[in-house]
Amino acid sequence: MWITLYQITFMKKASYHVVNEAVEYAKKMEGRYVAGFVNAILRRYIREYIEDTRDKTRDSVNVCIPQKQKSEIKRLSIIHSFPEWLIRRWHERFGQDDTEKLCAALNKVPRFAIRIDTKRMDMDHVMDYLEKKGIKTEKGRYVESSLYVDRLTPVIKDSLFKQGIIHIQDEASQLAGVALDPRQGDIILDACCGLGTKTEQIKGLEGHIRLYSMDIDMNKLISMDKEGKYIICGDVLLRPFREKLFDKILLDAPCSSTGIIRKHPEIKWRLREKDIKRHGRNQVAMLKALWGCLKDKGYLIYSVCSFEPEETWGVLDEFSRENEFIVENPLPLLFNKEYFMSLPHETDLDGFFIVRLRKP
Ligand SMILES: C[S@@+](CC[C@H](N)C(=O)[O-])C[C@H]1O[C@@H](n2cnc3c(N)ncnc32)[C@H](O)[C@@H]1O
Repeated sequence: MWITLYQITFMKKASYHVVNEAVEYAKKMEGRYVAGFVNAILRRYIREYIEDTRDKTRDSVNVCIPQKQKSEIKRLSIIHSFPEWLIRRWHERFGQDDTEKLCAALNKVPRFAIRIDTKRMDMDHVMDYLEKKGIKTEKGRYVESSLYVDRLTPVIKDSLFKQGIIHIQDEASQLAGVALDPRQGDIILDACCGLGTKTEQIKGLEGHIRLYSMDIDMNKLISMDKEGKYIICGDVLLRPFREKLFDKILLDAPCSSTGIIRKHPEIKWRLREKDIKRHGRNQVAMLKALWGCLKDKGYLIYSVCSFEPEETWGVLDEFSRENEFIVENPLPLLFNKEYFMSLPHETDLDGFFIVRLRKP
């Protein structure tokens, strides 16, 4: 049935022909009751989604009625292969055109992004080096250290990768490290460091810092390079640090990950709407737990690979009920001065949110 639906929707095959074929096949393999069921489903699909949509496009009636919106959401959900609840949210927020563009962007195979430790090797030099090895390169648009390559395997096997001059990191994710802007003498906490991607970036940006990298998951910490940092297995929510210890904190919080669906398409089927809300509540709790250990005048970078309201502005709204902070432009390159919000169909990056909260 899936194959037939695909043929009808995308291959523009004559529907009567593919339906007949499917029904005959079902009859042969499973008997006529199953064949009748297959026939009913396929014909209903053609009647309700294919012909209905065709008629609507022909009539071009632009009156927005709930039923029309409902079938539009269904259509987008089938065509782009996203759960209906996710399409409904985006449709309400972005409208039909942008939802289509967003889904298309999230279905695209992403380019391979790498980060170059430009303190150790000049970007042009690395590009030259890779091009000579037959790897096509293109500079990132937003971050100096970011580079796109057409193939990843030879890069991972290369000695520059082994020496730590090349790292695998999306450009949007690099922006979070840049936003932290480590300076000499800073005491910094990477509160949810995971495998240490941003920890390494921060250390590469400024070596003369005291850097604490923490995660609740010991398995992630084990493979991290221990040099030049304090690695801690701990729970942010248990407030393990003394008051006003850090100049800067990076909270790259666990989230719904809707921004990285193009890399992990399974996310869209695993996720439930209530998960987004649950993540939002957890993110607020994490911010509250960390706020005490930030020095006065220090700042916290909050980032998530999501663009859902409950995990972005919603978190700030909730946090502002009991805490005072100043929202500052996290990245000088931004026109928008208050936060960085990457929507994949606009930026061609992962979906991402970055904000800088300064303690008064
Ligand atoms: C988005 S990932 C971080 C990715 C990481 N910063 C990087 O650049 O690769 C979120 C991380 O938060 C960790 N985490 C979840 N709950 C936590 C908690 N209560 N305390 C500390 N870490 C937590 C998870 O184990 C996960 O590695």
